[in-house]
Amino acid sequence: MSKQRLIIFDTTLRDGEQSPGATMNQAEKIRIAQMLEKMRVDVIEAGFPIASPGDFESVKAIAKIVKDSTICGLARALDADIERAAEALKGANSGRIHTFIATSPIHMQNKLRMTPDQVVEQAVYAVKKARHYTDDVEFSCEDAGRSEFEFLCRVIEAAINAGARTINIPDTVGYQIPHVFGTMVGNLIKEIPNSDKAIFSVHCHNDLGLAVGNSLAAVMNGARQVECTINGLGERAGNASLEEIVMAIRTRQDVFEVETHIDTTHIVPTSRLVSSITGFPVQPNKAIVGANAFAHESGIHQDGVLKHRETYEIMRAEDVGWSANKIVLGKHSGRNAFRARLQELGIHLATEQEVNAAFSRFKDLADRKHDIFDEDLHMLVLDARAQDEQVIYELVSSRVCSETGETPVAMVTLKVQGIEQSAEAIGGGPVDAVFKAIKQITGQASARLQLYSVNNITSGTDAQGEVTVRVEQAGRLVHGHGADTDIVIASAKAYVEALNKLASQQQRAHPQHDGV
Ligand code: KIV
Ligand code: ZN
Repeated sequence: MSKQRLIIFDTTLRDGEQSPGATMNQAEKIRIAQMLEKMRVDVIEAGFPIASPGDFESVKAIAKIVKDSTICGLARALDADIERAAEALKGANSGRIHTFIATSPIHMQNKLRMTPDQVVEQAVYAVKKARHYTDDVEFSCEDAGRSEFEFLCRVIEAAINAGARTINIPDTVGYQIPHVFGTMVGNLIKEIPNSDKAIFSVHCHNDLGLAVGNSLAAVMNGARQVECTINGLGERAGNASLEEIVMAIRTRQDVFEVETHIDTTHIVPTSRLVSSITGFPVQPNKAIVGANAFAHESGIHQDGVLKHRETYEIMRAEDVGWSANKIVLGKHSGRNAFRARLQELGIHLATEQEVNAAFSRFKDLADRKHDIFDEDLHMLVLDARAQDEQVIYELVSSRVCSETGETPVAMVTLKVQGIEQSAEAIGGGPVDAVFKAIKQITGQASARLQLYSVNNITSGTDAQGEVTVRVEQAGRLVHGHGADTDIVIASAKAYVEALNKLASQQQRAHPQHDGV
């Protein structure tokens, strides 16, 4: 018997991006959206178009480029939000407007200052308005996890009558417990007279570490869409993680009546991409995508796995996209081999200028590093794309004198809006000295470094180091990343990228904290 489909709705680019410091630019969002499309995600929530002109343009660009997944834009239950979302989605093959309003007593009284009757009226109004633009309208009851059951039945029945085709039950504050939440979703489907006219969806936050458990409990009780993010990225403790949901469904086909259409072999590369773009590292023991997820340290386990893999492994590493580092290219590889490998990796460079920039970085890297791995190529392309962004500061050169027993001195040259400026600084270590010199040039004295981390992209002492920094200024958090075989230069690139973001970031509205 063929199984029902579980719709995978990815909100990395919307709810994931709402994590403080996870802001992404348009090129980065497109890159992630293309990976999600390749992974065969059914619905990509590409952003909250009214938040800022930048958010609007990103949703518009993704709607134009991504053709195989439905592209969704978030809108509060307000005219302006819905109009803006509809405008951004105009070019989509398949576009969805996702409108929402809070339904819990605490949100209605304190945030909305609306009566339950007014909330129902507004919900119906918003769904009808969204239906003027598309047949594919999703309605969410924000904070459903703390809403009254009878009221949820009322508002959902009205939203379905108004034309909503997907009803989402968010556990906005991560308050739910699996068996309670599963029963609640099952009862909603049973009690609401027109529930057969809509697909029920869940959207769980991870404040108690139960987002995946709650989502799966809802699936067992009739939910047929799960909203989730890569690496569980999202506000506070994050959202339900896509990779865990998808692999639980796939691994326990004996338990679930549903299947997904996800190509799981793209999970690890997508996880890495999201991690390097946002600067949120993946903890080593994270299920599915953590570096240790398939590593066996203890002798007993190793022995068991060698004799019979399934003794200790319930999934195959290669099924989720873990592959041994493969040597793909070297110093003598030409432009065609480079382009062909990028194509195999699903990396589409839109313009010849982008290919040239990436190829010249590849040649430069191949001079310093004998073997170039797939991971190096991903990083090269990210770097080339970052160069294409409108930048205020550009790293021209960095030189550090560092000797045992001596204070390190750094000499840095940046282009500031096209004009070269240099500075010299001493520091506690070479990276500290370089950051101080950069700060002198940019004059961003109030920028405070909150996080600095280095990871090797592949193995070996000639591997590229990937540096991530998190910088805070006047309450705004940004991440920067840089890769190089020289980690001091990688650090300088990361720091310059973060300062660029601070200098150019626009103000944006938050869907759940501002307005209704
Ligand atoms: O957590 C939440 O309630 C949301 C809604 C906007 C769906 O993100
Ligand atoms: Zn959310």
